Order: sequence, then structure tokens, then C-alpha cells
Amino acid sequence: MGRCGLAGTSRVLAVLALAAILGGAADRPAPLDAGHWRKAFTRPDHTPVPPDNPATQEKVSLGAKLFEDPRLSGSGDVACSTCHQADLSFSDGIDRHPGLDGQPLDRRTPPLWNLAWALSLFWDGRADSLETQAIVPIENTREMAGDLDLSLQALSADPQMRKAFASAFPENPAVTRANMAKALAAFQRTLVSPETRFDRWVKGEDAALEPDELAGLSLFVGKAACVACHKGWRFTDDAFHDIGLPGEDRGRGPILGIAAADHAFKTPSLRERVWSAPYMHDGSLAGFEDVVDHYADRVIRRPTLSADLPQRLDLSPTERTQLVAFLNTLSSNDPPRPAGLPPKVMAFGTDAEAVATSTVSQKDRRFTPTSVLLKVGEALRILNDDIRVHNVRLDGPDKSFNSDAQNPGDTVTIGFDRAGRYDVICGIHPEMRLSVTVLAPSTTEPAQNKK
Ligand code: HEC
Ligand code: HEC
Repeated sequence: MGRCGLAGTSRVLAVLALAAILGGAADRPAPLDAGHWRKAFTRPDHTPVPPDNPATQEKVSLGAKLFEDPRLSGSGDVACSTCHQADLSFSDGIDRHPGLDGQPLDRRTPPLWNLAWALSLFWDGRADSLETQAIVPIENTREMAGDLDLSLQALSADPQMRKAFASAFPENPAVTRANMAKALAAFQRTLVSPETRFDRWVKGEDAALEPDELAGLSLFVGKAACVACHKGWRFTDDAFHDIGLPGEDRGRGPILGIAAADHAFKTPSLRERVWSAPYMHDGSLAGFEDVVDHYADRVIRRPTLSADLPQRLDLSPTERTQLVAFLNTLSSNDPPRPAGLPPKVMAFGTDAEAVATSTVSQKDRRFTPTSVLLKVGEALRILNDDIRVHNVRLDGPDKSFNSDAQNPGDTVTIGFDRAGRYDVICGIHPEMRLSVTVLAPSTTEPAQNKK
């Protein structure tokens, strides 16, 4: 993938350079490299599921039942679907849902499409899997204020529910917190947004998009640089950015304990967003027009502002309309129904061949190489040769490491005194993944001799 990306970028650069040589004025849009972008936006043909919660029909239908069941809440009248409504892209159509105390919640209800691929959950990424996320709203005093044990008792008293749990979890047929979380997670992984007109274009149907929608796509991947963060078929990089919205909410910063991540929120997917207005973590922007006006005119310049936002974005009224026209092509014409994709069990980590090196780069928000081989006693140097602040983290059973804010130019060093496999991520850009294999001295000898 990385290779294709690079080849694609240089192709775009070549086209841009050619356009400049041919006297293309700066205000003439660069031609769209359709081949490159069709590849970059291609939908997957499987839904990833974790090895410890494989999807079965029984589990998914139990999860769907629980999602609509108000017995999960303390008051007995709030279900997940009270806020996450199917016809509103599993959001609720309002800026911030009133909590049980009548006051608006701190943040807007996010749509739930395509979370099977999400690397973290909530606007600030504080949960790292759908399984751990599922019980948070139930126990949240302002959302559902449930006492999980009471809910579990109520469900166990219902023979239908007992039966549904038993067929979903034949190896452990009980109404438990863990099984409830697994079923809710399995159901939410089936919420895959369906193909839209844009996907017909991706598949090669040139006429699927109108000229102004195509112009909007060119702006999205070109001058307006939206694709720096809204990338891939889900239109998100799973990273956290401050995009210069007003407000006191510090988002990712307090979660990591890093001031450089203040005001940073998870990049939302842009799929099926026509159905989920208003927008942003605080629901402060009513429509796509307001969103585009924000990026062009209203970005608050502060030290935490994302390095991935263009320094300056001049958009004419026509260009704004074109961008909005393009955003609309990522939504269905009628309230969308989930697209069934076959599940496929996938584990963390890269398949890349491990490279024997003790130095890793972070240029362009990518660990290079993505997989390294060390010997016990050696240290790994991770240098920030990027333009962004990073946060190198390693969380393992016998070792953990947190670089705090790693500014451009800073190098962090992690020593390894035990053999094993370790996964490293960036807390601000969790799509950056590095696997470290540390070999015991005895096993390194043959490997060395082979070379
Ligand atoms: C009272 C409204 C309300 C109820 C009820 C509710 N949620 Fe939410 N949900 C929210 C809000 C608000 C957020 C965002 C909170 C944040 O990011 O800090 C959220 C976030 C989420 C997310 C994270 C989505 C993302 O993009 O990261 C998931 C998943 C989710 N809820 C699932 C559920 C499930 C499952 C239930 C039922 C057990 C549920 N919710 C009940 C309002 C609600
Ligand atoms: C620096 C990364 C970045 C860039 C560049 C960027 N976005 Fe965003 N976008 C985000 C983040 C992060 C949010 C959520 C911010 C928040 O709620 O505080 C967001 C939110 C949105 C939303 C609202 C989605 C929702 O469900 O609330 C839309 C629509 C959107 N962006 C479109 C665009 C367009 C169009 C462009 C180009 C003009 C663009 N974005 C450029 C990161 C980015």
C-alpha cells in the first residue's frame, strides 16, 4: 500500500509540474489523476473482526436486540437507539442530546457507520475497542445511568433473552457483562455504509458523477487538501487534529496528557453524513456549507492547529458549491441500510518483513520501516523527522513506554532487555504502527549467519 501511495504521489507531482510548464495558471485546477484516486478510495470486501470476538449470526442478532433494549438504562426508557437512530446514520439530528439531567451532553452523538475499521472510539479516542466502549454509555450517569448488574438481572429474568445469549455464546451461555459487550460490538461491526454514487465512479463509471461533483472531488484531493485527513474509502485517517473550531473542549489533549493534542478530535468518516447533521464534536455547524466556510474563513490559528491543514485556503463561491456537491455523493439518496460484508478475523500488526535496524523514521506520519528486528540489550531510536508532533507509545504486558509530546527534531530511545514482540503506535496518529521483534541472543546467531 505504502509503495502505491508513493508512486501515486509522484505521479500527481509529475502531472502538476507538467501543468505548470504548459503555462497552467495557478488558479486553473490541476487535472484529476482518476486512476490513482480510484485505487485510493476502493472499498474493502471484508469487515475486520478481532480474533477474540468472531462474528456469528446469533451474536449479531442478539447485539441488535440489545441495542434497542431500554432495559439497559437505569430509568428503563433509554436505549442505545434513542440517541443512535438508524434513519439518522445512527446519530440523533441535534447538536447535543439532552442528558438525563436535562442539560445537553458535552458532545454530539456521532454516527456509527464503519466503526469496525476504527482504531479508537469516542471523539477523543478514549476507548480502544467496541468491546470496551459498549458498557461506557450504560454506566455513564448522564447518558443511560444504568446499573449494569441490575440490567443483567432484568435480562436474565427474560427467557427469550436467556435463549438469545445461550445461542450467541454456546461456549459460555450466560447473561454477563462481557457477553453483552461482545454482542453489542459484533452488531455494530455490521454497520457498514452502503455503496453510493461515488463508489460507482470509483469502479470506473465516469458518468456517475456530474461535472461539478467531479470538480469538487478535484478540490477535495487537490487545492483544498481535505484528503490529508479524510483519506481512504471511509474518508478518515483515524488520527486526532485541531481544525481550529472555537470552544473550551480540549479533546485528545487531556486523554494523552499532552497539551500539543489539545482541541484535537478524531477525524470523522464522511460516509452517509447527509443524514447526520449537524456536524463536528459539538454539533456547532448546521450543514456542509457551514463546514466548508469554516475551513476557508474561520479557522482559529493557535499553536495546536493541525499541521495537516493548509496554511491558507481561498475558495470562490463556485468552488465551495462544488465541494459541497462532492460531499453529497458520499451519501445515499434514501436513509441507508447497512451493506453486508463478510467478516474476516484480523490481528494487530503489519505483514511487512522485519528489517534489522535500530533507527526508525516518522516522516509523513509513517514509521519507516514498519517492522524492525532487534537483539536483547539493544535500543531503538525513533526520530521525529516529520513536521508534526508525535507521541510514541508502547503498551505491553511486561513493558510500557510513553514519549509524551515528541516535537519535530526530537529523538526517543527505547531499550529492550527481553525477547518478544512489541507493538508501537503514535497516540495522536494511531494509524502509525510499528512492530518490534526482539530476539534472544541464541536465536539471533543463525539468522545473522544466513545473511
Ligand atoms: C444519551 C445519548 C446516548 C446513548 C443512550 C448512547 N450513546 Fe453512544 N454516544 C453518545 C455520545 C454523545 C457519544 C460521543 C461521546 C464522546 O465522544 O465523548 C457517543 C459515542 C458512541 C460511540 C463512539 C463512536 C465513535 O465514532 O467513536 C459508540 C460506538 C457508541 N456511542 C455506541 C453506543 C452504544 C452501544 C450505546 C448503548 C449501550 C450507546 N452508544 C448509547 C450518545 C449516546
Ligand atoms: C487536518 C485534518 C483535516 C483536514 C485537512 C480536513 N478535515 Fe474535515 N475534519 C477533521 C476533523 C478532526 C474533524 C472533526 C473536528 C471536530 O469535531 O472538532 C472534521 C470534520 C469534518 C466534517 C464534519 C463531519 C461530521 O460528521 O461531523 C466534514 C463534513 C469535513 N470535516 C469535511 C472536510 C472538508 C470538505 C475538508 C477540506 C476543505 C476537510 N474536512 C479538511 C479533520 C480534517
